[in-house]
Amino acid sequence: MIVHRHGHQLVALAPAKVNLHLEVRGKRADGYHELESLMLSVSLFDVLTVTPRAAGTVIACDDSSAGPVGDNLVSRAVALVRSESGRDDGVAITLLKKIPVAAGLAGGSSDAAVTLSALNELWNLGWTRERLSAMAATLGSDVPFFLGTGAAIARGRGEKLTPLDTPVMPWLVLLCPATGVSTAECFRQLELPIDDAAIARVEPIADAFARGDIAEVGRRLVNRLETPARKINADVDHVARHAARWPCLGQRMSGSGSTWFALCEGPEHAAALADQLRPLNLGKVFVVHGCLND
Ligand code: C5P
Repeated sequence: MIVHRHGHQLVALAPAKVNLHLEVRGKRADGYHELESLMLSVSLFDVLTVTPRAAGTVIACDDSSAGPVGDNLVSRAVALVRSESGRDDGVAITLLKKIPVAAGLAGGSSDAAVTLSALNELWNLGWTRERLSAMAATLGSDVPFFLGTGAAIARGRGEKLTPLDTPVMPWLVLLCPATGVSTAECFRQLELPIDDAAIARVEPIADAFARGDIAEVGRRLVNRLETPARKINADVDHVARHAARWPCLGQRMSGSGSTWFALCEGPEHAAALADQLRPLNLGKVFVVHGCLND
């Protein structure tokens, strides 16, 4: 995330993520699934403005598809910080949504992570990254990732993170169909158990990513949730068939869908592919690059 301070106000950019690898190792006793994933932040951002006010919490969002503001992940993050800190200072948060909702890009999770970090700074709480991560995991499986540097192997529910670096920032095209996929429904429709021999390991793609061998990353993209997402949503199935013909280094679904992404050789390649896709009206098209910070 990127945070700017303007006087008392904080303006923060909350990035989207894609999963370059997403494998499910089995179902756990707590109902969640044991995952192994390679997550990368990308340069498509929601914008949050966090401003002190006299009293109370006011949250405004420009996009009603993000659900009622009183119940979204930003509100839940504010409530969590209040209960853990005992602080009742007033705060106003405006949320400009650029990241499509229910798209497998974890926009809501990113907004929640930014909210935790911004309030930690605004209220001088002095909480460590570890404490924020533990709080983040209670809000959602993807939230802790966004407190990190922008690339990581995620295990467990998604909250056990091993940071990764790369010398080459990948360029991608995202295609977001008009309709989304419910993550819970996608996991429910997943057929388990998966044969041990069929489980893809994350290490080879993580090694290629760390070497900056993007062509090899493109050959190794995996997403175990594609089959259930294609079953649930006909738009996703249609895009999946189309994507098989895209001229790119590799293409896959992100998260539980509905976004499909293409890994490209660089900005010109990504722009050319996006120009090819836009007139087809398959969904919103974005050119993005990987987005790492420290
Ligand atoms: O953790 P989060 O609230 O984002 O997860 C949304 C839903 O996705 C969960 O309620 C669960 O059904 C499913 N899920 C899962 N295993 C995971 C992560 C999410 O089954 N590791």
